[in-house]
Amino acid sequence: MMKGRAVYIKTFGCQMNEHDTERILGILGAKGFTEVDEPKKADLIIFNTCAIRHKAEQKFLSSLGRIKHLKKKNPELKIIVAGCSAQLQGENLLNKIPYIDYIIGPDNIHLIENIIENQFSNRVFIHENPDLAKINLPVKRKDRVKAWVNIIYGCNNYCTYCVVPYTRGKERSRPLNDIIQEIKILAEQGYKEITLLGQNVNSYRDGDVNFPSLLEKIENIEGIERVRFITSHPKDLSMELVNVMKNCRKICEHIHLPIQAGSNKILKLMNRKYTYEDYLEKIYWLRDAIPNIAITSDIIVGFPQEEDEDFEKTIYALKEIEFDGIFAFKFSPRVGTLAAKLDGQIPDEIKSKRLTEVLRLQDEITERKNKKLEGKIQEVLVEGKDEEGFTTGRTRTNKIVKIYSDIKPGEIVNVKITKSYRHSLEGEIFKE
Ligand code: SAH
Ligand code: SF4
Ligand code: F3S
Repeated sequence: MMKGRAVYIKTFGCQMNEHDTERILGILGAKGFTEVDEPKKADLIIFNTCAIRHKAEQKFLSSLGRIKHLKKKNPELKIIVAGCSAQLQGENLLNKIPYIDYIIGPDNIHLIENIIENQFSNRVFIHENPDLAKINLPVKRKDRVKAWVNIIYGCNNYCTYCVVPYTRGKERSRPLNDIIQEIKILAEQGYKEITLLGQNVNSYRDGDVNFPSLLEKIENIEGIERVRFITSHPKDLSMELVNVMKNCRKICEHIHLPIQAGSNKILKLMNRKYTYEDYLEKIYWLRDAIPNIAITSDIIVGFPQEEDEDFEKTIYALKEIEFDGIFAFKFSPRVGTLAAKLDGQIPDEIKSKRLTEVLRLQDEITERKNKKLEGKIQEVLVEGKDEEGFTTGRTRTNKIVKIYSDIKPGEIVNVKITKSYRHSLEGEIFKE
């Protein structure tokens, strides 16, 4: 067994990556490890990496550089690199950086246990091929009110810019019974909100049970008050799903539906398998069925061959659809993806200019939409306190609300919105 009992872990990626961190801490917790907040206090340092854009990998590499000296001070210290970048870089990273002890891909996190029990020789890249979807791991959750639950692993979509199919493998759905069991236990533990996780939740399937029917089953679990899910691929969003969202009380009025671009030429080059018109039709379905739904999205600017007129179509799309919020990124060429090899790569100055324009426009739209909520009553699930000690929570549409009274986490209250900002709202308890 590895000596020492203190682990420092840093997470670089998406919600799925963060949830993997919770499971790594679950495994280590069961083995007597406690989490510490500084690398210098640790006997075990874990970096849970992300490879989605160049920046994410750079951040990891500079954090790695900053702990090199600790290894000299403490020869017993072990360093593990986990996550998506670990999977992609594997042996190369071991060869390049002598002070890394183990590299472990996202589908192998259950083997952390074997590492600390010294079952692996030092300096290996652990990449067996188990079906993580069939393995239930202990979890040490950060939050007491909201919980993440994996429903589908991997991705088969091969969007031409994206590394995820290479880092997280083929799409595999988790068995229905395991999901239901996990959520029932969460309900018993007092969790109020769950977020179902997957790169493309819409293609969930176990036997006859598809994603909409999974949601219907979760609706019946007593104690859970709110259900969310990320991420939906627009091509697989069905009318059946829209109807289930409309009819199930617990499913929140919010969907994250990444559009990526407004130009059909670019969508085709991205292999997204929908046109702007297809996407817009689904927005109409959603808004017809659920009039107050919040819709958020992801945008990539500066994809190869994106001419000014293509970019203008993204701007047009933002104006026409009016999302509640977006995440926008400059295209980042990733090794091994098709898009990195396409002709017509866009210079960085143009990408930056386009990104600024997109963000500025969306800020205006978000601000305008939030302003409309002033004076309205919103249902808020209280999550905790902010740095200033104010009670905070979220609306069903996933907007952050600061409340002027002291309320316990986990309570659901009606709040009258008194003030709106670009990224949050403020309000007071509403009593009839
Ligand atoms: N599975 C999800 C998203 C996963 S990645 C989906 O399909 O929607 C989250 C976001 O990162 C993507 O929606 C995309 O906008 C962005 N992204 C992915 N690869 C990128 C790249 N190479 N450069 C810039 N942004 C990228
Ligand atoms: Fe990446 Fe596309 Fe899969 Fe999302 S759907 S993870 S963007 S390949
Ligand atoms: Fe998530 Fe980054 Fe991997 S976004 S799936 S941790 S590449």
